[in-house]
Amino acid sequence: MSHIETRAEGPLTGRLEMPGDKSVSHRALIFNALARGEARIEGLLEARDVEATADCLRALGATIESGACWRVVGMAGSFCPPGRVLDCGNSGTTMRLLAGMLAGQPFPSVLDGDVHLRERPMARVADPLGTMGARISTREGRPPISVHGGGVVAGAFDSAIASAQVKSALVLATLGAGKGTLRFTEPHRSRDHTERMLGAMGVEIGWQGNVLVVPAGQVPTATDVVVPGDISAAAFFLVAASIVPGSDLVLQGVGVNPTRTGVLVALEAMGAQIEPLNRREASGEPVADLRIRATSLRGARIEGALVPRLIDEIPVLAVAAACAEGETIIADARELRVKESDRIAATVAGLRAMGVQVQETPDGMRIQGGNLTGGVVDARGDHRIAMAFAVAGCAATGETLVRDAANVATSFPLFEQTLREALHG
Ligand code: S3P
Repeated sequence: MSHIETRAEGPLTGRLEMPGDKSVSHRALIFNALARGEARIEGLLEARDVEATADCLRALGATIESGACWRVVGMAGSFCPPGRVLDCGNSGTTMRLLAGMLAGQPFPSVLDGDVHLRERPMARVADPLGTMGARISTREGRPPISVHGGGVVAGAFDSAIASAQVKSALVLATLGAGKGTLRFTEPHRSRDHTERMLGAMGVEIGWQGNVLVVPAGQVPTATDVVVPGDISAAAFFLVAASIVPGSDLVLQGVGVNPTRTGVLVALEAMGAQIEPLNRREASGEPVADLRIRATSLRGARIEGALVPRLIDEIPVLAVAAACAEGETIIADARELRVKESDRIAATVAGLRAMGVQVQETPDGMRIQGGNLTGGVVDARGDHRIAMAFAVAGCAATGETLVRDAANVATSFPLFEQTLREALHG
């Protein structure tokens, strides 16, 4: 159970590389493992969550070789029975996307995970996959998930939540389905990496107005992927450089897919100075370098359709709000309660431990901006809570100790090293 210690050590400066995007990395492995042919993946996130996906796919027969460029040999639509429980570790994306993929495979498998993942809701994928005809069971809606796929039929599904994991699970089940067409709707548009990547792999997939339409029974064509930098990792540095006086930082090659850039919208509404430079494209995803300079922030409202575009960034946005003038209201973010931890409770407790006035609400929080005193924060084994409060410590008047922070390795193993690099120019 490791910890992170931070204190105000001066500005963040220089140019930093961000780790590969986690969502794109999972998809590059899964879709190419399912595909016909062989592909190379550059810039893949080398962190525990993505390694869990790679290990599960290997257990299902795919060849996946790590290296400067990863190599994946696809199974042309047909995997082999795994012969062991598929361990998804801490990764909800691994579990939900693979549950969808396995619904299209005619053999039994079991997906399980660590103590945190075992508490997360899986009925959101198990129920619709069951309706499609997969034999699927959970432990009262939670992992482990047993799936016996094959013979599934695609149809209409109206999701009650904006979740790219649910959407991607149903798309994957549809690719392995015998007949039908998926017609998927969601209350707000969730991240669209699945649609972009499968489209580039020759799959017939597209939005007709608000309906995502995917005909059943398709095998993607293996396609090389260049993974952009992860904006969810960049968010920690965007906030750190905004709140530590004198900072001037460039984050290189960050993915700026509009379904992911809510953090830029929110920070700009708070008065942050962020300049996207050198806009370009990598494997169908928009990319830019982001220059960020310290400035005084003001409170803002974060709610509605913006929330799915910044859901993973809310803990660190709450830290920005704690340093802003006035009140910040975060609402419509109930989903945070079922992430790697209850992120509303964990963020509120962390802010209080650092001397911030904050009120918890069922779907968010109200934060009074002011001074961060430093303190002892419990990250509750949640990588994003740990990194958010390590950042808070860089702008606090006293020292900060973030406990139970080992799971930073699930998404950003070099986080501390990268932070030190920015702090020491
Ligand atoms: C992800 C989707 C989001 C996000 C998660 C990664 C993905 O979850 O919070 O970190 O890669 O599809 P939901 O689908 O539950 O919103």
